[in-house]
Amino acid sequence: MNRPHRKPMLRLQPTTLWDYPSQHYGDDVQGDPNYRGATPSYIIWNLLQRYTEPRAAVVDPCCGSGTTLDVCRDTDRRARGFDINPQREDIEYADARKLPLRNNSADFVFIDPPYSTHLEYSDDPACIGQLSAISGEYYRAMEKVIAEINRILKPRRYMAMYVSDSYEHNRGKQRAFHPIGFELFQRLRKPFVPVDVISVVRHNKTLELGNYRRSAEEGNYYLRGFNYLFIMYKAASAPKPRGEKKPPHANRQPRKGGPRKKRTHRN
Ligand SMILES: C[S@@+](CC[C@H](N)C(=O)[O-])C[C@H]1O[C@@H](n2cnc3c(N)ncnc32)[C@H](O)[C@@H]1O
Repeated sequence: MNRPHRKPMLRLQPTTLWDYPSQHYGDDVQGDPNYRGATPSYIIWNLLQRYTEPRAAVVDPCCGSGTTLDVCRDTDRRARGFDINPQREDIEYADARKLPLRNNSADFVFIDPPYSTHLEYSDDPACIGQLSAISGEYYRAMEKVIAEINRILKPRRYMAMYVSDSYEHNRGKQRAFHPIGFELFQRLRKPFVPVDVISVVRHNKTLELGNYRRSAEEGNYYLRGFNYLFIMYKAASAPKPRGEKKPPHANRQPRKGGPRKKRTHRN
């Protein structure tokens, strides 16, 4: 007998390897299932459970089909979503590098940005999905996005970025691996403190297609099997002690003369 396919219960992901077999949870859909590049909604659900309280002010600067807005509605969070290619009325038109929000106003920021030119989103000249990782334009734009997230996020709050590396293997183009995840993590570390790095299993249909798999084997490259999820914390700015010119960001700077030697007790 054919049983109807049931999605597993939503639950907190307990390890740094996140996996859920569906793009959506429950009987509803979150965001638009036909929007290429939509974020699996259980990721946002998990982040909100761990890092926000009910009624928290959540911001998504690249809101796409509105997945973040729908998960916030389900979980009683207040959300604002921005995009330069808004897909529905509750998404506001704005460039993620210049958001119409006050400093220190968001309780949580989630962002799933374009992964350089991986997908075509729109022909809006402000679209970050048109910028090349090879020339560095993409990273310069993302530095501005990260600075903007830092500006709007309240101190002692969290943000998360969902992103993938990219491998160009099209005929005619030179083959190139772009370690977008590592590059963006390095940039996120400047204003934020890393909380954790999650590896999210991708269930993209193309990963199952025989011709994609064959092409990867014959061409000796890999299909993207996971995305990164970087979880970062915005620390409270350290108070400036009297007589000191610089605040002591003790955890950030390597100690002069190398690490302190461990005291060992010998009996
Ligand atoms: C990976 S998609 C986001 C998917 C979304 N989380 C969802 O679930 O539907 C990336 C989005 O970034 C948007 N985008 C590109 N450049 C932007 C910019 N400068 N400012 C704001 N959004 C931008 C694209 O239009 C696209 O919708």
